[in-house]
Amino acid sequence: MELVHPQAEIYAANFSSAEDPVLKTIAEATTLSHAQPHMMSGHLQGKFLEIISKLIAPKRILEIGTMIGYSSICLAKGLAQGGILHTIEMREEDAAIAKENFRVAGLQEQIQLHVGNAAEIIPQLNEPWDLVFIDADKTGYSKYYELLKPRLRSGAVILADNVLFHGDVLENEIKGKNAKAIHAFNEMLAADEEVEKIMLTLRDGLFLIRKK
Ligand SMILES: C[S@@+](CC[C@H](N)C(=O)[O-])C[C@H]1O[C@@H](n2cnc3c(N)ncnc32)[C@H](O)[C@@H]1O
Repeated sequence: MELVHPQAEIYAANFSSAEDPVLKTIAEATTLSHAQPHMMSGHLQGKFLEIISKLIAPKRILEIGTMIGYSSICLAKGLAQGGILHTIEMREEDAAIAKENFRVAGLQEQIQLHVGNAAEIIPQLNEPWDLVFIDADKTGYSKYYELLKPRLRSGAVILADNVLFHGDVLENEIKGKNAKAIHAFNEMLAADEEVEKIMLTLRDGLFLIRKK
């Protein structure tokens, strides 16, 4: 299902800040060479992540699902002085490209890349998170949220991508393990009184969650 009219996407892009030239080059190379370039955040969502990060000025960011590092670079732009972004990617090939992209963006000191399964790596990262971006396997979202929540400082923000899952969660009978997992995650968030949240209809649906 097409969630946002393509003309609205173009109009929004035209009236938003231009894409950073380094990110533009990364996006073009990824579109040419990657099997799933659509997974990358891209211009509009990337700019949104960057502005949210700049508003928070986080010391500690966690990203689950690096891919080639587009969103990591956007988020890292908002880090406070001396801050660090930890990002987790399971696929070694993508992680290697991300590492190179971080070097090109001059962010290799601020971004720590972990290669492996997020469910195993998150418990090893004993940090007080200020900002988290969940953007990996959809069946893992609820588990990641449970693992993370005790490590969020008060006022911390979580962003979770693809929460409309191409519109599949809007069906009367939700089919497919990914759409079912995302719907269960959304239900868990809706019932959680310890956070305030807004589901944005940006791109494929982006949940903006704040720990009270
Ligand atoms: C949607 S892409 C990430 C896109 C990136 N955040 C961006 O916006 O540019 C999801 C990534 O999560 C990775 N991934 C999936 N399951 C994972 C897991 N269990 N642990 C770590 N990474 C995982 C995939 O290999 C893929 O590269």
